[in-house]
Amino acid sequence: MILVTGGAGFIGSNFVLDWLAHSDEPVVNLDKLTYAGNLHNLASLRDDPRHVFVQGDIGDAALVVSLLATHRPRAVLHFAAESHVDRSIHGPAAFIETNVNGTFTLLEAVRAYWAGMSAADKAAFRFLHVSTDEVYGTLGADDAPFTETTAYAPNSPYSASKAASDHLVRAYHHTYGLPTLTTHCSNNYGPYHFPEKLIPLILANARAGKPLPIYGDGRQVRDWLYVSDHCAAIRRVLAAGRLGETYNVGGWNEMANLDVVHTLCDILDALDPKPRGSYRDQISYVADRPGHDRRYAIDAGKIERELGWKPAETFETGIRKTVQWYLGNQEWVRDVQSGDYLKWVEKQYGLQDG
Ligand code: NAD
Ligand code: DAU
Repeated sequence: MILVTGGAGFIGSNFVLDWLAHSDEPVVNLDKLTYAGNLHNLASLRDDPRHVFVQGDIGDAALVVSLLATHRPRAVLHFAAESHVDRSIHGPAAFIETNVNGTFTLLEAVRAYWAGMSAADKAAFRFLHVSTDEVYGTLGADDAPFTETTAYAPNSPYSASKAASDHLVRAYHHTYGLPTLTTHCSNNYGPYHFPEKLIPLILANARAGKPLPIYGDGRQVRDWLYVSDHCAAIRRVLAAGRLGETYNVGGWNEMANLDVVHTLCDILDALDPKPRGSYRDQISYVADRPGHDRRYAIDAGKIERELGWKPAETFETGIRKTVQWYLGNQEWVRDVQSGDYLKWVEKQYGLQDG
């Protein structure tokens, strides 16, 4: 079986569903269920014996050691993290705790577990670390996209904490020989995306008749990838990636934020029109994110050349599926829009608007 951390979050839950749709190999899913973890995402697996959910912290060494000893996974896929840049600006401590200290605790437990395996099991074992393109920092308009050899230059507490975790993973491979793989993916979108991030936030606010907040001039560029393509890339890297290597994963799809928001408004205008006017009328410019990275772009050539992966979805197909999913899953949206999420919106946007 495999052990997934953070499998109740956006990408992790998509990955668990995708994995079990492609294979009968069971998954142990270790997730703390922070505000970002949502077991509703995995409701279809409620009676599926291939999925074992454990609520717990990757920083709980005793728990991780015991899970490894009990389930004896052949791979650990590490998604768990604090993942929202804006939250890292307001409160970086949780990012250091989970992304740095938590990853360290997990690596230590995995190292001990791996050391005790038979030679054959040791050789087959993999630790796959899910990282981000944000560790490379920001690009100018004419710069070449990030490659795997681009120097690290993280600019937010979030990206700095992810960079620190990447360095630990790298060191555990070089020093101890732990069979690691690291992926650096660009911005994902798709089902179960928590509505604090741009695309689901815009969809939720648009339908609620609320302002659609654009930071700064809205000309910042991100490279968008449909989440199931990221899941397929991770499966491919796990199956065939070279040990100790890093792989960039992206959609070859750079877009300015304002263009993304216009696209969402136009699809909503077609699928769920307002009584009068366009959803574009709700666009509202707000204060910029401090230290806002201007442009991310991924060169995903290595994973295509070496492992034969490339995205199956274009932005046009993926974004339409995404809007349709959100329109068809309003109950999911309503469920997550409670508690901590509401306090967050008040803090982030209430202050800026006021
Ligand atoms: P998310 O915030 O939606 O989910 C994170 C999950 O981790 C949640 O279920 C949460 O409960 C869990 N978690 C947090 N702290 C934990 C802890 N201490 N112990 C156990 N579980 C914990 O994040 P996401 O967007 O799904 O991102 C998943 C991973 O992919 C992260 O490592 C992130 O850095 C990386 N990534 C995300 C994107 C993106 O566009 N969202 C792109 C590239 C890489
Ligand atoms: O690049 C990969 C990263 O993508 C992941 O590592 C992160 O975990 C993930 O959250 C995402 O980070 P971003 O900061 O790029 O995503 P976010 O959806 O927060 O913002 C996307 C862009 O939209 C960014 O330039 C900021 C802008 N934005 C965001 C919000 C929430 C707005 O203009 N308004 C908003 O309200």
